[in-house]
Amino acid sequence: MSDKKLGRNQKDTNDDMIHLVDNLNRDDDVKYNRRAFLKSAVGASVALGVATLPISIKAMLNNGQEDSAKVEIAKLSDVKRGNAINFNYPTAEEPAILVHTKDGELKAYNNKCTHLQCPVFYESEQDVLLCPCHKGYFDVKSGHPIAGPPQRELPLIEVKVINDTVYAVGRKIRHG
Ligand code: FES
Repeated sequence: MSDKKLGRNQKDTNDDMIHLVDNLNRDDDVKYNRRAFLKSAVGASVALGVATLPISIKAMLNNGQEDSAKVEIAKLSDVKRGNAINFNYPTAEEPAILVHTKDGELKAYNNKCTHLQCPVFYESEQDVLLCPCHKGYFDVKSGHPIAGPPQRELPLIEVKVINDTVYAVGRKIRHG
C-alpha cells in the first residue's frame, strides 16, 4: 500500500466526480419522470374521450334535444294573454311554467332559477320572469338572464298547440 500524498486538488476532483454522477442520475430521473407523466396524461385523455364518446354521440343524434315526451299542459283558452300557469316537464319532479305573453306568444321553461333553484314567476307588468329570492330576472322570450345573480338561461321547453290544447313536446339543451 502506498501512502501516496494527495495532489493539491485531488480531494476536490473526487468530490466533483461524485457530484457529476449524481447530477447525471438526477437528469435521468427528471427525464424519465417527465416521460412517465406525459404517458399517463395522454393515457388519461384517451380514456376520458372513450368514456364520454356515447354521451357525445347521443347529443349529436338528438340534435340538441334533451327530452321529447309529449305532455298536455292546458287548454289554450284557459291561459289568457299576460298570464302563466305551472306544470311539470319532462317528469313530475321538474316544475315548469307556460307563459302566454302580452303579444300572444307561448313560452315555456323549467322554472327553477339557475342561481339557487328558487321558483321563477311570470311578472306580467314588466313582461319578465322573476325569481324573488335574490331578484333574478329572465327574458320571457328567450329565458336568458337579464338582471340579478343568475348567469345561465332557463331550460327551454318547446310547445305545440293542437286543437286548442297546448302540449310540451321537447326540451332543448342550451348550455353544457
Ligand atoms: S335563487 Fe334566483 S336569484 Fe337567487
